[in-house]
Amino acid sequence: MNSDIIIENLTAQFIRAEGNVAAVRGVSVTLKRGQVTGIVGESGSGKSVLGMAILRLLPDNADVSGKIIFEGENILAKSEKDMLKLRGSRLGLIPQSPSESLNPAVKIRRQVTEIFTLRKRVPNAEESARKLLERFQLPDVDRCMNGYGFQLSGGMKQRVVTAFGVGASPEWIIADEPTKGLDSVLAGQVREVLREISKTANMLLITHDLSLAQSICDVVIVMNNGHILEQGDILKNPYHQYTKGLLESTPAGGMKAMPLVQDAPDGDLCPICGWCPQRESDCNKQLPPLAEVDGRKVRCWRYA
Ligand SMILES: Nc1ncnc2c1ncn2[C@@H]1O[C@H](COP(=O)(O)OP(=O)(O)O)[C@@H](O)[C@H]1O
Ligand code: SF4
Ligand SMILES: [Mg+2]
Repeated sequence: MNSDIIIENLTAQFIRAEGNVAAVRGVSVTLKRGQVTGIVGESGSGKSVLGMAILRLLPDNADVSGKIIFEGENILAKSEKDMLKLRGSRLGLIPQSPSESLNPAVKIRRQVTEIFTLRKRVPNAEESARKLLERFQLPDVDRCMNGYGFQLSGGMKQRVVTAFGVGASPEWIIADEPTKGLDSVLAGQVREVLREISKTANMLLITHDLSLAQSICDVVIVMNNGHILEQGDILKNPYHQYTKGLLESTPAGGMKAMPLVQDAPDGDLCPICGWCPQRESDCNKQLPPLAEVDGRKVRCWRYA
């Protein structure tokens, strides 16, 4: 079965002695199969927490509520044993920190072969592992397979963990900042790999790379301060002031500085009402609803 991922009123906060941190504040969105959905937004917006909630990979101090429905069942209510069956084989992850995802004590050969022996029963796991790495154009597959994670360059590590994420051909791939920290040549290679994968897989792509989002996403979700501010095929013609600001703050837009999310008001108000040039006097009284406008969704009082 191949299903949408239906997120209903997802809230995630971290319980800490020095004060709780609200990371995702009542997000509802359906990730449609057959589409690539992107999540963009500044650092700290709640993008990774949303992605890791789907995989149930948040730390123990995360208090998560709402529902994430996959194949008619709520992922948030599943046992860890059932999650082990889902992760990797049905819901794949391309993680944000490749170094942390590779076991430093185990050769790449064993780690990549295990994808096939543990998750998918295939007759020749090692041959499948080799073919998988070859698909990701690693310069020297033999050297890579015989080595350890720490011996690989940053770009090779990212390609190896990307291979891990897609190795068992999961229905869904959640990629968290797969091009972050790579130089432009390596980022370009990873982008090509993602573009290729996106042709056949359902994907949630969390990225700071707006040009990557623009080139492979069918739908983009813009997040800030735990809220969705705009959603749809929006990057060519954004309506929300925050989306416009994000696009203008990219190098092509001249790197305009945007106020940090830390300066945002609490979660019950428009997150950008402190600096929005279109702000009106009533803007900072209540959080605007996520309204349907021209086939997209926008959270702004001007469109409510
Ligand atoms: N393990 C954690 N403990 C406490 N706070 C966290 C933890 N992980 C994330 N946060 C906080 O949750 C918010 C959202 O984080 P995150 O989803 O990682 O942002 P991003 O959009 O950059 O991916 C941030 O304020 C972050 O500091
Ligand atoms: S609600 Fe008001 S402050 Fe917020 S984005 Fe819209 S116009 Fe700007
Ligand atoms: Mg993140």
